[in-house]
Amino acid sequence: MAKEKFTGVKGMNDMLPQDAALWQFVQKTAVDVLERYGYQEIRTPILENTRVFTRGVGEVTDIVEKEMYSFVDSMNGDQLTLRPECTSAVVRAVNEHNLLYGTNQRLWYCGPMFRHERPQRGRYRQFHQLGAEALGMEGPDVDAEMIVMLARIWKALGVGPVKLEMNTLGALDERQAHRDALIRYFEDHKAELDEDALRRLYTNPLRILDTKNPEMQELVNAAPRLLDFLGEKSRGFLNRLEELVSAAGIEYTINPRLVRGLDYYNHTVFEWITDKLGAQGTICGGGRYDPLVEMLGGRPAPGVGFAMGMERVIELIREVGNVPVKTQTDVYVIHHGGDTQTKALLLAEAMRDLNVRVIVHPGSGSIKSQMKKADASGADFAVFATEDELAEGAVSVKALRAYDDGRTVPFAEQTRVALADAPKAVAAALATMRA
Ligand code: HAM
Repeated sequence: MAKEKFTGVKGMNDMLPQDAALWQFVQKTAVDVLERYGYQEIRTPILENTRVFTRGVGEVTDIVEKEMYSFVDSMNGDQLTLRPECTSAVVRAVNEHNLLYGTNQRLWYCGPMFRHERPQRGRYRQFHQLGAEALGMEGPDVDAEMIVMLARIWKALGVGPVKLEMNTLGALDERQAHRDALIRYFEDHKAELDEDALRRLYTNPLRILDTKNPEMQELVNAAPRLLDFLGEKSRGFLNRLEELVSAAGIEYTINPRLVRGLDYYNHTVFEWITDKLGAQGTICGGGRYDPLVEMLGGRPAPGVGFAMGMERVIELIREVGNVPVKTQTDVYVIHHGGDTQTKALLLAEAMRDLNVRVIVHPGSGSIKSQMKKADASGADFAVFATEDELAEGAVSVKALRAYDDGRTVPFAEQTRVALADAPKAVAAALATMRA
């Protein structure tokens, strides 16, 4: 009988051990910065009631119309959805637990999101976002601080230059007036609209501005601009944001066509874009969403946030060649003959007490074959616990690598060390190597 082959689900990737260091580096670096701005972690379930997203993200968005993994829970008939984004889920949780009662919140999250999109480079069906939400604060100072914080994160990650685009979506009534004008304009040019645009004409005309269809670019370029419908307050909001971002020395462009794919935004929207990743060059998107808390049943409270695509950020770090090198193992313990296995186990424990990362050779084998495993492990040192040496109360230590610049490493030659002194000697040698 042919063996059955099992593969992962299309568009959903395994993160393999060789990539773990890079993933951890990105999360740790970003979170270190977030904590310097007072953000705390929140974790919400991967499943939510579908209404959280249809109400939060918006009924006529691409996400809700065609990208959500939704299903009926066969146990109780509940309509559930694998979260396509986390902002709605965070706001649901904040409302449910009254976290905005008499205070505001700065929250971050990191985890998998699910969208049934056509998989391609930088676009997956399960992907990971690291995001943050600042709730209960009106801005634009908070919006500006978020932009400044993101610039700091890019710098700490070493992703090279990323372009910041900002726009404003104004207030609800301004958007309504703009929307009416857009509908009138596109009605006058109905013959030039593609199928997608026709479908959106009365449901979400703003999204027509986002079209990728080259034949509609001219039409879209000449369409009424929201900027021309903004009242004094909205203009003031954008101006102050620009002032603060400029004062922080951050370059940006105002892109009047940046509308974003989620319905909850007002005022500030922004994206960080790189030209190094092909078509999926947006590594981070966000904006202000003052209506959302109330839309999801809470007492009205403003909010602003962002999410970065982890896969895209990681791909960008690889692209600019800034992958941090981190070894996984410090020491590989080789043992041979008699009951050296017990001594090796105890020796490894003594080294781990000193924060040394140790692999003890599993099972048995010739010293030569164990040495091969030691080399392949990437460890800096091999410790030999052989029957003869142990009988004399000693082990020997040998460095498995050299410095790039030719300096002598400790234990460059295989060296005998008293068993009792070995853990300290190895820890000290590692400290020298890492210095
Ligand atoms: P979004 O623009 O839909 O915003 O997603 C944010 C980022 O997630 C994108 O810029 C991209 O880097 C990444 N991303 C999105 N879809 C995929 C995919 N299929 N594969 C790989 N990466 C992807 C939001 O989700 C909002 N919740 C952001 C936000 C937070 N706004 C306010 N607070």
